[in-house]
Amino acid sequence: MTGARVLVVDDTAALVENLAEILEAEGYQVKTAPSAAKALDSARSGFEVALVDLRLPDGSGTSLVSRLKELSPEGEVVLLTGYATLETAIAAVRSGAFAYLIKPCATAELLLTIEQALRQVGLHAEKRELSRRALVAEKLAAVGTMTAGLSHEIRNPLNAAGLQLAVLERRLRRLPEADQPLLLEPVGLVRDEIRRLTRLLEEFLTFARPRELTLLPIVLAPIVEAVVALFSKDAERRQISLEVMFEPALPKIAGDRERLQQALMNLILNALDATRSGGIVRVSSTASGSDVLLAVDDSGPGVPADVRDRVFEPFFTTKAAGTGLGLPMVHAIAAQHGGNATLGTSPLGGARFVLRLPKAS
Ligand SMILES: Nc1ncnc2c1ncn2[C@@H]1O[C@H](COP(=O)(O)OP(=O)(O)OP(=O)(O)O)[C@@H](O)[C@H]1O
Ligand SMILES: [Mg+2]
Repeated sequence: MTGARVLVVDDTAALVENLAEILEAEGYQVKTAPSAAKALDSARSGFEVALVDLRLPDGSGTSLVSRLKELSPEGEVVLLTGYATLETAIAAVRSGAFAYLIKPCATAELLLTIEQALRQVGLHAEKRELSRRALVAEKLAAVGTMTAGLSHEIRNPLNAAGLQLAVLERRLRRLPEADQPLLLEPVGLVRDEIRRLTRLLEEFLTFARPRELTLLPIVLAPIVEAVVALFSKDAERRQISLEVMFEPALPKIAGDRERLQQALMNLILNALDATRSGGIVRVSSTASGSDVLLAVDDSGPGVPADVRDRVFEPFFTTKAAGTGLGLPMVHAIAAQHGGNATLGTSPLGGARFVLRLPKAS
């Protein structure tokens, strides 16, 4: 893991300097702290491995371990001790430290221990990613079961209500002309509501049981233009500049026009929601190896660090009126195309969502 962040916590300046030099030469990003308090400050921005002296001016290294791991749950701590006793070894293990080294330690031993700790850090991240995916899959399955039930419980009575309403409307039209408007108007309103519900149900259903996609070679630009045009009035009203930036001569992708539009609509809607007036939402596309990347950037506040992992989870929302199904749908659509959807940070200052879509062969 080159570029991994190593935090060195020790109050002996000469030793810290020496360690930092060795680690930087190996390509690690080194931060140092001379005390427990400073170490906690520094740990807030995250680390992969912390090297912590057992004896610090403001406390013991062992009691620092759990607090450091709270701040950076996937990081590992290696304790440094001036002398080895059975007690220190036991205390180190109890505290949750990954390992302990006896000072002064050989460079090779130090580097090997850090490498092992980093391997452990990698395993944590893998495990978290796996359990996140399992959670998403589980919730999607729950949505599927729920909508299958819904279709039965709601669709049939809704159809029946629609049919009866049509009967009622026909009978009303046989009444004297003068009596009709008063009665037909509410009937029209009910009919519109029934249509709305039916459409909502259809949307849910396509999401729960994604139909087989027919992936055809398509040019992305016109699809994007069409979706952006749909939102141009909305963006104007919110005083947000909605831009499109396409690399010239982009290759075709293997895609499903309707599903891609649906994904893009969700991303643009989210971006508009997140952006204040005067801001920018930009849809751009570039080729990347055997894929085409379709990105939606915004100049909003971005996604807070503590929810980044959750945005693709079904039903996760921070909006009062959100359902939290937008991004899971985007994710599912990208996967159906053999690609993926990821969250990053935008050069515009806010969030960047990227769809990676394989080129048409
Ligand atoms: N561009 C963005 N900037 C900041 N936060 C975002 C952005 N896009 C999504 N989010 C966050 O991700 C959450 C989930 O988004 P998602 O589209 O899945 O659901 P939603 O927008 O809340 O509801 P809906 O189902 O109506 O789309 C949002 O509630 C929001 O907190
Ligand atoms: Mg949304």
